[in-house]
Amino acid sequence: MKKSILCVGCGNMMNAIFRHKELSQLANDYFFYNRTYDKASKLSSFIGGTAIKDISELKEYDFVFLGVKPQNLDSMEFLKAHLNNKTTIVSLLAAIDLNQLQNFFSHKKIVRLMPNLGAFVQEGVYLKIDTENVTNEANSLINQILSFSGETFELKDEQSFDHLTLFSSCMPGVISNLFDLISKQMTSMNSEEDKKRLLTKTLIGTAQYLKIEGSSESFNEVTNRVASKGGITQALNASLEKSGLELVFKKGFESALLRARELKNL
Ligand SMILES: NC(=O)c1ccc[n+]([C@@H]2O[C@H](COP(=O)([O-])OP(=O)(O)OC[C@H]3O[C@@H](n4cnc5c(N)ncnc54)[C@H](OP(=O)(O)O)[C@@H]3O)[C@@H](O)[C@H]2O)c1
Repeated sequence: MKKSILCVGCGNMMNAIFRHKELSQLANDYFFYNRTYDKASKLSSFIGGTAIKDISELKEYDFVFLGVKPQNLDSMEFLKAHLNNKTTIVSLLAAIDLNQLQNFFSHKKIVRLMPNLGAFVQEGVYLKIDTENVTNEANSLINQILSFSGETFELKDEQSFDHLTLFSSCMPGVISNLFDLISKQMTSMNSEEDKKRLLTKTLIGTAQYLKIEGSSESFNEVTNRVASKGGITQALNASLEKSGLELVFKKGFESALLRARELKNL
């Protein structure tokens, strides 16, 4: 049976999930609402959905995907009038836990979803966790939607969900930052565009090698394949290690977890 799906907050992540024409194959009714109407209108045009201009046009929905920032949750009071006991809320909000969402919406059926940037190019990673009363039917429809843009990892406890968020949804930002730093050492190349091209190709090649040819090798084994004893890569890795790279990462992830706790209590 056709399901009605409302997407609220049509920014980066909602686009990453719903900007895929193939989603129209699922024959759901898609509705999009955003503070700035143009964004809802643009996103709805991708899969033939309906953009909603004013909250007075809202009805009740089977699914509500929530894609606003955690600090905007308070402005979502109006949604309560559009939920019924069959509605499943799917929250993309970082740090806000299932219990907080249940209390805020006075609603039982909640799914937390943590996407990452790769979903734009159908290579996303989704972390997913739900409250026990979300039905198998609802979960299977959500999984179908996500299957068009990435791979879903179902989790059972929220502590792991929040911790793994650092390694999935934060990671494209961390990797890009690292490559920005690395590109600053490419002093023999002038063009920023060429630097990006060279490093991106290397990144894709490494990822594909890890996924295909080296699928049975650990990260350490692949490292040793390149970093032969007494060679240049080994010297580079040894120097990075000696300069405290592992500690730098440990501290970075600790700070990120602290920030996640702060956001939860805003
Ligand atoms: N970015 C990531 O890589 C990432 C990864 C994982 C999870 N997340 C989570 O995903 C959520 C969305 O992040 P994002 O990067 O997509 O943010 P974003 O691009 O800023 O999108 C948020 C959207 O919400 C809209 N909005 C804000 N208040 C609203 C309201 N009262 N009514 C209707 N629409 C409203 C904004 O509208 P305007 O256009 O008017 O500003 C904007 O389009 C966040 O909760 C974040 O924690 C993000």
